[in-house]
Amino acid sequence: MQTDPTPDSTPPDPGGPPASGPGSGPDPFDTGVRPEELEIGKPVPLRTPWGEFALYPTDRGVLCAAMFCPHLDGPLWEGTMSGTEMTCPWHRWRYDLSSGGCVHVPGGELEPGAEASRIQRLTVRLTDAGTYEVLGPAR
Ligand code: FES
Repeated sequence: MQTDPTPDSTPPDPGGPPASGPGSGPDPFDTGVRPEELEIGKPVPLRTPWGEFALYPTDRGVLCAAMFCPHLDGPLWEGTMSGTEMTCPWHRWRYDLSSGGCVHVPGGELEPGAEASRIQRLTVRLTDAGTYEVLGPAR
């Protein structure tokens, strides 16, 4: 399966439990994405039971983090990847996908509160079936 990472694409509907309420939580969600479908630097959008995320294939492994930027909801997943850092295409804020933290705001020092502008992350692991699954956020 090749997932189209274009801006107009709609993430696949995961089915499964709702985004909140009973049934949500840390149970794994199988993305159905296989390693051979990924290319470093090309994120794959996901609709998970916990919201919209993306798989970010980096040169240090596959990470899962929010699709959209916490600044003003820009399409972070369409930004530029360098190592484990992702730069949002709208205002160029840069995030470390491995920690979720904002590491750079253009124009100088991080703005007050930027450290709090963390992107949500999910743990990724490879299943015995050879697909990536993500684990829900800790409760
Ligand atoms: S919306 Fe991402 S940096 Fe502004």
